[in-house]
Amino acid sequence: MEQLLQQIEEYKQEIASIIPNGADSLEAYRIKFLGTKGIVKNLFGEMKNVPNDKKKEFGQILNEFKQFAETKYEEWKQSSAGSTQSTENKVDLTLPGDVLPLGTRHPISLVRNEIVHIFGRLGFSVAEGPEIEDDWHNFTALNLPENHPARDMQDTFYINQNPDWLLRTHTSSVQARVLEKQKPPIRIICPGRVYRNETISARAHCFFHQTEGLYVDENVSFADLKQTLYFFVQEMFGKDVRVRFRPSYFPFTEPSAEMDINCRICGGAGCNVCKHTGWVEILGSGMVHPKMLENFGIDSNKYTGFAFGMGIERICQLKYRINDLRLYSQNDVRFLKQFTGAV
Ligand code: PHE
Repeated sequence: MEQLLQQIEEYKQEIASIIPNGADSLEAYRIKFLGTKGIVKNLFGEMKNVPNDKKKEFGQILNEFKQFAETKYEEWKQSSAGSTQSTENKVDLTLPGDVLPLGTRHPISLVRNEIVHIFGRLGFSVAEGPEIEDDWHNFTALNLPENHPARDMQDTFYINQNPDWLLRTHTSSVQARVLEKQKPPIRIICPGRVYRNETISARAHCFFHQTEGLYVDENVSFADLKQTLYFFVQEMFGKDVRVRFRPSYFPFTEPSAEMDINCRICGGAGCNVCKHTGWVEILGSGMVHPKMLENFGIDSNKYTGFAFGMGIERICQLKYRINDLRLYSQNDVRFLKQFTGAV
């Protein structure tokens, strides 16, 4: 009896020290302890050698041991230790997971979306037009007839197959497309890509992005233009932004004005971006030329309107301090991933 109890104690210790390593070792354990010729069975076989008055006590001890061995077996089977994998290729659930490379929005898209959102709150909806345009929509309808000197302001890419086709030089072509289809009131914003035959450098590119705005209704005044654009820059750059309007010339607006804001980079102290003037031009604008309205059969005595066009890259430059236009189209991930998390 003494001996048997001693034996059971040793088996218990042996079991407690086992670290099963895969399905094979688990099965070996089962056979050794719980199998038909296993240790537990053998111990029960010893029962006949135990004196009668000790049988009950020994029976209890044996049952406990049996249960102990069985519970261990079940536990191991359930845990990954008993799975078919061996330790070498077992999944370590405590390791950090793989980082999924998340895409980021392009800064041009970020700013374009923000522009659309701000004007959306003023009731402007988005209109789009083709990037391959005809001469009429890009120039003539906008009061820029053939041989008009202002055509030289924009170095145009023409399309070989058809001299009437070109890559639009500005989003003002979308104004023409909307005016030919819609009747006032019109309140639209037209973001898109435009093309000009410029040598690529940090400050110029053969394609870039603009957002056009057009508002035509009864009693639209220059004051509306100023207030709308002032609201826009305050939303885009913060309430402390200052603006100034300078007289300018565009064939499709009269009067015309360019709008400057105080430099967001140096705060007005003077830097390369504002060429040490403290001011940065961000858009062209003006009251829609009556001739343009008449081109589309809109009564210019009854309706007036304002229009504006801004470069998205320029807004981006001021917002994110991007100082080289080439960065926008190189798609260098080191550049792009800086916009992670921006929406
Ligand atoms: N289309 C002009 C440009 O590209 C900008 C502009 C748009 C000016 C609308 C006035 C009104 O420079």
